[in-house]
Amino acid sequence: MSDNHRSTISQILDAVDRSGEHYGTGFPMIASENVISPLVRRACNSDLHGRYAEGLPGKRYYQGCDDFDTIEAIGIQLAQKVFNSSFANIQPTSGTVSNIGALKALVKPGDRISAVSTADGGHISHAQMGAVGLRGLDLHTYPWDIDRMEPDIDAAAAMIRDTEPALALFGASVFLFPTPLEELADVAHEIGARVMYDGAHVLGLIAGGVFQDPLREGADVMTGSSHKTFPGPQGGFLLSNNDDEKFHRRLNNAVFPGTNSSYHLHHVAGKVVALSEFEAFGKQYARDTVRNAKALAAALATEGFDVLAEDRGFTASHQVLTRHGETDSGAGRKAAAMLEEAGIITNMNMLPGDTKAMTPSGLRLGVQELTRHGMGTTEMEEVATCFRRVLIDQEDPSTVKTRVNQIRSDFTEVRYCFQE
Ligand SMILES: Cc1ncc(COP(=O)(O)O)c(C=O)c1O
Repeated sequence: MSDNHRSTISQILDAVDRSGEHYGTGFPMIASENVISPLVRRACNSDLHGRYAEGLPGKRYYQGCDDFDTIEAIGIQLAQKVFNSSFANIQPTSGTVSNIGALKALVKPGDRISAVSTADGGHISHAQMGAVGLRGLDLHTYPWDIDRMEPDIDAAAAMIRDTEPALALFGASVFLFPTPLEELADVAHEIGARVMYDGAHVLGLIAGGVFQDPLREGADVMTGSSHKTFPGPQGGFLLSNNDDEKFHRRLNNAVFPGTNSSYHLHHVAGKVVALSEFEAFGKQYARDTVRNAKALAAALATEGFDVLAEDRGFTASHQVLTRHGETDSGAGRKAAAMLEEAGIITNMNMLPGDTKAMTPSGLRLGVQELTRHGMGTTEMEEVATCFRRVLIDQEDPSTVKTRVNQIRSDFTEVRYCFQE
């Protein structure tokens, strides 16, 4: 190896190792992330990393897929069981790719679609700048109830009746409470629209039975990431309870050849292991996650923070939202940077009233990863105390970091999974 290459490689590998340490010794609190189990990691690090398997189990375009056929066939069955769906495609390489596939299957360019606006917490793939724009759709966003942090049911129903979208899309990235889906799906079906629910963030809570049950509340299709509250490797799912085989073929074709050729077989294998672990431990993990989110929100409010949605009990998901200053002031950005210095990893987030994504007033916190490491409600109070020391008491973050590292050192294993 030349000196140049040696230096490049060691720079890369040092950064890889450091990033693991950073997450492993602090409080990882990004709401869209999670930690994978040792067995999921083993599947992800396998030879499948370099392989191809276009098509579906038993119907491949390449030789050499027998073992992977076994893995994917088990995975489809497990996904149907874990998500209680008659159809599952486990190939999408991300939540966004699941959404692109679903939009390809459900609507045509030029069709009208209704969705949550990004300002109200909708995801960029639901926007003109993302998958909705890519598909050439005419986007209408729901009227929003800021206090309840959900679509204004009556106004959104009227909007669906007036605009008559071909597809009503629900779900968001800021997701504190279940969507009033039954009411709005009924209206959408009345006017002949399909209903899609993007459960990227809350998929693990849905599968764990603690959030809402979109496939029984009117969603024709549910999409989601496999790595947020669902604790698998990065990837996506496409799910449905429609029993029509033609519809299943349309969904499968939208994934391959529609949006993927290679679909990251090592991650599919990891997803299948995660599904099996979820079957065994998912309900308890989901319950503990929501309990911890509620405990963290209450503890932060007690410490003096402005925690959103107090009237509704702060949260019914894995997320907690806090406001740190005036709208568009960038107070959320500053708070996230100070917390990072103390080893607490969060993200700034737009809150109601904010108009600029780079200078928002809030933070979005997620407790699913701390929960996976075994933290409970007592630790949530300690986490809130660390937030107070950094952001209210303005203590030197490096002093608080010592305490963060100390608390975390008792919670290094991954729980809710099989031991190797
Ligand atoms: C609602 C929603 N949909 C889709 C996505 C995209 O998921 P992925 O990052 O897996 O592409 C996200 C990501 O945060 C999301 O919040």
